This record gives sequence, C-alpha cells and structure tokens, in this order.
Amino acid sequence: MSLVSVQNLKVSFHSRHGLAQAVDGVSFKIEAGKTHALVGESGCGKSVSSLALAGLLPRTGVEIEAKELLFRDTNLLSLNPFQYREIRGKHIAMIFQEPMTALNPVMRVGNQILEAILLHESSDPQKLKRRVIDLMGNTGLAEPDLVFEKYPHQLSGGMRQRIMIAMALALKPELLIADEPTTALDVTVQAQILALMNQLQTDLGTAILLITHDLGVVASTAHTMSVLYAGQVVEQGRVRDIFAQPVHPYTEALFDALPARAKEGELKPIPGSVPSATEYSKLPSLCRFFDRCQYKNDTCFRKPTASGHTSWCGRENRSGESAA
Ligand SMILES: Nc1ncnc2c1ncn2[C@@H]1O[C@H](COP(=O)(O)OP(=O)(O)OP(=O)(O)O)[C@@H](O)[C@H]1O
Ligand SMILES: [Mg+2]
Repeated sequence: MSLVSVQNLKVSFHSRHGLAQAVDGVSFKIEAGKTHALVGESGCGKSVSSLALAGLLPRTGVEIEAKELLFRDTNLLSLNPFQYREIRGKHIAMIFQEPMTALNPVMRVGNQILEAILLHESSDPQKLKRRVIDLMGNTGLAEPDLVFEKYPHQLSGGMRQRIMIAMALALKPELLIADEPTTALDVTVQAQILALMNQLQTDLGTAILLITHDLGVVASTAHTMSVLYAGQVVEQGRVRDIFAQPVHPYTEALFDALPARAKEGELKPIPGSVPSATEYSKLPSLCRFFDRCQYKNDTCFRKPTASGHTSWCGRENRSGESAA
C-alpha cells in the first residue's frame, strides 16, 4: 500500500474573476521512503495540489473534492482542522521556497524548533535545547549554539532553509512536502540542501513530495514524477523512463526548453503561456495543451497511453506523429 494516494483531486477557488478550477482531476501515489516530483510551469497547480494534501488551503472560498485522499489508511478529507494539525505535527512536515514566511519573525529560531518538538512530545526544555542545537548542527549550520539565539531576519536564506529542515528532522516525518525548497538559493547551497533531504530520507525512510521547476533536481533526486499542465497530469511514471523517452508533447517541450538538454543554439522556449485557472473551462476539451502543441492536428484527443509510463496524449507513437 502506498503511503499517500491522491485520486482525482479537484480544487476550485471562488474568486472575483469567477471560478478558478486550479486542480482538475490530479492523481498520484507516493511510496514510503521514495521521492515523487511534481513538475510543470508556473501556475499549473503544483502548490495547490500539495496544500490540499497537507490540509493547508483556506476552509472558505475553496472547494476540495477527491475520489481518494489517503495518508496510510487515514482519509484526509474526513479530518477536522484539529486532527489535521495533529497529522502535520507528527507525520507530515513541509518546507517552502521562502522559509521566512513559515518562520515567526519575532521568535528566536532555536526556540521555534524547540516549540515544534514540544507540540508533540513532553520533555524538559533544558535537555531539549541541547538536542535542538545538535539537530541544527546536523544540518550543516556552523556554531549552532549561536544561531539558536538569532531571529530569522539575521540569517541568510540558506541558513533559514536549514532551520526549516532541522524542524522537519525534529518531527521525524513519514512525509516531507518540499515546495521549491532550493529555488531561492545559490547552486552550492542548493546542492547541500538537497543532500540533506536525501540524508533525511536515508536515515528516517521519509517519503518526499518534491515540487520544483528544475528538471535537473528531479533527475538527481526523485524516483517517480508527475508532469502537470493547467491543473491536470499529462505524464506520469518513473523518472528514469520519462527522461529516457518523454511521450507527451508538453513534457518534451519542457525538456527542449532545458539548457542542459538542448543542442547548441537549439534552446526552444515553449510558445505561449499557461492560461489562468479561471480560463480552463474555455480551453479545448480534447487537450488543454492543444494551442501550444507543435504536433497538434485534427485527430487530437486526451487519453492515457502506457508505454512503461503513462502519458495523456492520443498520439500513438513518435514516429507516426504528424506535425501541424
Ligand atoms: N487563493 C487562490 N485564489 C484563486 N486562484 C488561486 C489561488 N491560489 C492559486 N490559484 C490559482 O491556481 C492555479 C495554480 O496555482 P499554484 O500556486 O498551484 O501554481 P504552481 O504550479 O505552484 O505555480 P508556481 O510554479 O508559480 O509556484 C493558478 O492559476 C493560480 O492563479
Ligand atoms: Mg507553487
């Protein structure tokens, strides 16, 4: 049984511009101890999907439905806010792109980790302080006893992300949801933070839901992946299979836009942009990527086709495709 099973998740927001169907039928599973990546351009529904899973979407103005939203055998849709908080405190941890928003600006960072532990464990705060300093040291923070006393604004972005990871380490979560955890960091710090997350996975068997724009990060850290476009999954499977042979034209276009994969002088940006979620209902029902697709033709439709992994594109095979 998977640790997490999301089946046909739909999230819509009531906004001034009408109903925004931000997530429209997303399904994926996360296995214990493995990393599942959600990728796709900005606005395609990665964060909203993960916030729905973590129970962190607002309760008003939002509609969430799913055929299944399971964490082990717990139906997350049936939980009240208190029960959800308990699950987040004990089993599911989150780290975000900008840790500043998740940290309390007027509280010393060490105390924030300490309080996170005290929420689900009663221990002597003095002894706990030692443990927190050790945890902070484990994340590569130099002089953790001094950093303990600092406020978030006194630390660099990389240091703040390490504080968030120390908090996650303290919880020993079964699932870590990491939404663009390294996007705001320079490449060397990024590599250290990714290594730290891998360490967490190896030591504690933590499953990770990794949200990122960065396909390089996916290739080096994730086991399985879902490619999202306009609130829907367009391709899903093992990372190594999808990298070896992307089938959906959107996935292919994402790869072609990647500097490391493009042949010299052949970097191909994807024409057009992701529509806003209030516009999805106006998109061609045969395939939401249709307008931007270089292979679109009058036989297009959307159906899952499996060839080692699943792609939601009707084109049978790449050799038989006919470009418009
Ligand atoms: N509170 C909200 N009210 C209305 N629409 C929203 C709200 N939150 C998100 N959306 C819309 O839902 C869609 C998906 O947003 P989401 O934040 O999940 O994108 P994302 O894939 O995480 O993008 P990024 O890579 O930029 O973080 C977008 O069209 C966004 O404008
Ligand atoms: Mg996001």
